[in-house]
Order: sequence, then structure tokens, then C-alpha cells
Amino acid sequence: MSVWEDHVFPHGGLDALAPGLWQVTGSLTRNPLPRNMQVWRAPSGGLLVHSVICLDAEGMAALDALGPVQWIVVPCPMHRSDALPYRQRYPDAQLLCPSAARAKVEDVVAVDEVCETALPQLGITVHEPQGLKPFELHLVCPLEDGSKALVVTDALFNLGARPPSGFGGLILKWMGSVGPLGMTRLGRWLLMKDRSLLRSHLEQLAEVSDLSVLCVAHGEAVRADVASSLRQAAARLG
Ligand SMILES: [Fe+2]
Repeated sequence: MSVWEDHVFPHGGLDALAPGLWQVTGSLTRNPLPRNMQVWRAPSGGLLVHSVICLDAEGMAALDALGPVQWIVVPCPMHRSDALPYRQRYPDAQLLCPSAARAKVEDVVAVDEVCETALPQLGITVHEPQGLKPFELHLVCPLEDGSKALVVTDALFNLGARPPSGFGGLILKWMGSVGPLGMTRLGRWLLMKDRSLLRSHLEQLAEVSDLSVLCVAHGEAVRADVASSLRQAAARLG
């Protein structure tokens, strides 16, 4: 079995969320938490893959049919498990991560550049989350229909509409990770530095014009009323 195949776990198909934006939901062994990879097509036609998941042959063929993979984004230190197989499969792609994650990401894979420097050159606006410990970035990506997508990683979960099933799902519920769009109990404990600043940060993101999609690493993408969903998530912080 190849290194790539070792990393392939059950996953869904590439769902088109908006013009130029796709998402796949996958799984990990011994972890009931579903995880998402986003695929964004730059104006040049190149693909940026965010929080990468190794897909089966059919899934990778579908990905490659969308365009050439040119940027691999490891969005935080926790989402690096499939970064090395992607780096090996797409040696000409640039591997990027937030500056705060660089040391931990470089424990497993070489990093070419930090997101803060590289992504604005692609037209992506990089927001450093206020009120969070240094961990991840929040990205506003222009879409092909003129609207925008907001991509966050672990700061917000959205598992309430389709809760994970089985005993693992029950554990996630007990842990406080299943609910409407918001920060989980674990996230507050591990990542939150200042509740009021984080609330303001989410409210400011809600002011970004023409947001049509909000993607999170764990849970459903928000595809309607993104701004009001963000304001509700801010309010739930208390
Ligand atoms: Fe995560």
C-alpha cells in the first residue's frame, strides 16, 4: 500500500458550494469528528487546497479535473496529517501555513511561505483573529460570481444540523462540540484568549460585503444569511 493510500479514509464527493469553491467531507480513524477540505480556484485557474484530505482515485481525478493544484494550505497545527502526501503528490505546488503554525507544521513537512505573505497576492484577504491565541487565520476569498467566501478552521464548528452518529457522536455531544455555528467548549478552553475581542472579531467579519458562503473545518458550510449566522455565533460566546 502506498503512503497516499495509507492516508485515504472514507470521504464524500467534491461538492460545489459556489462558483469556484468546492468542499469534501472526510473522516479519520479513531476520531468521530468529520473534517472538511476546501478547494478554491484562483483567478489564474490554479487551485488552492485548504486543510487537505487524501481522496481515493476517483476523488483525486475529480480534483485534478478542476485545475492544477498550485497552493496547499495547512491552516493550523492540528490539520497537518495529510500535508506531506500532498506535498509529495504535487511537488510544484507551494505549501503555505499561518506564521503562528509554521514551527509545528515544519515538524512534518517543509513550508514554502506563510499565508500572511502569499495569500494576499492571490486576492485573498487574511484576517488575524482577535481574541484567539495565535493558531489559525480567517480567509476571505473572492468567488467567480463576484461574491466572497469566508474560510475558518477550528474557531467555529457547525455540527448541529447533521450531528455525527453513533457512540463517537455521543462523545462529541458530551464534549460540547455539537451545536449550531459557534465556538466549542474545547475551542474556548484551548484557543480563546479574550471573549469580548473574539465577539467583536466575528461581528466585524459579519460586516464583510457580499459573503455568500462560510466554510468551517468541522461541520456544514453556511450558505445562506452568512452575516446573521456570524452575528449569532458572536452572541453565543456570551
Ligand atoms: Fe480541527
